Amino acid sequence: MDKITQETLNDWNEQINQLSLEESIALVLKHAEGKIVFSTSFGIEDQVITHYLNPHYDKVEFFTLDTGRQFNETYEVFQKTQSKYSKLKIKTYYPEEADIQEYYQKSGVNGFYNSIEERKQCCFIRKVKPLNKALQGASVWITGLRAEQSANRESMRFLEWDADHQLIKFNPLLHFTLKEVEAEVEQYNIPINSLYKKGFLSIGCAPCTRALELGEEFRAGRWWWENGKKECGLHIHIDQNS
Ligand code: ADX
Ligand code: SF4
Repeated sequence: MDKITQETLNDWNEQINQLSLEESIALVLKHAEGKIVFSTSFGIEDQVITHYLNPHYDKVEFFTLDTGRQFNETYEVFQKTQSKYSKLKIKTYYPEEADIQEYYQKSGVNGFYNSIEERKQCCFIRKVKPLNKALQGASVWITGLRAEQSANRESMRFLEWDADHQLIKFNPLLHFTLKEVEAEVEQYNIPINSLYKKGFLSIGCAPCTRALELGEEFRAGRWWWENGKKECGLHIHIDQNS
């Protein structure tokens, strides 16, 4: 993208407010220069975006971060997605073996339950480091973030400058409600993770995700034994040792 200014981003954000999902994606893809990437964890939001990006398979690079600790159901929906959208090439990034070896020696295989620091270290080596690799050379990063998901996400914008990764982050579903996301799934028969119907509305790694109980907020099932911000560092800056 030609030297993008905050003014241009503000202008596009205003335009996107009036556009449908399909139109907003078309707008960004039309004006974007350089490498455009989309990160998918095969969550319900990512599946809707995948459906809308599918026609643009030659313009957008899809990737997923395989942490090595995901549910089998996540691999099942990965497989189904690959079959339905057969032109897509979804690249998988993995953690580095040396990091995992070191972590096991120091904290143990399930060391993330020991303390918040050890949990964040695990997220750092299994998610954040591979993400940084996946985003190398990208100028636009498309995500499935929604404002409704957490207080931190409420303040996000459709398009924003991501200073950590030096690129534009595009959150096309930002103002969709969960009902609206579900309606898209229904309308287009989009495959979703079978855990979703069992109360797993936000799905991460298996040992760190549980189903929601009645009345719980959207991300309560993630790192449920911790208090405070439920983030792993993909979308807010978390240092390895913070
Ligand atoms: S997280 O920060 O708690 O892990 P969340 O599960 O809400 O994130 O997903 C938000 C967005 O982050 C997804 O729509 C997707 O773009 C990206 N994301 C999260 N986990 C992964 C993953 N394992 N691989 C690729 N992208 C991911
Ligand atoms: Fe590790 Fe849990 Fe973070 Fe997955 S969610 S990377 S298992 S701490």
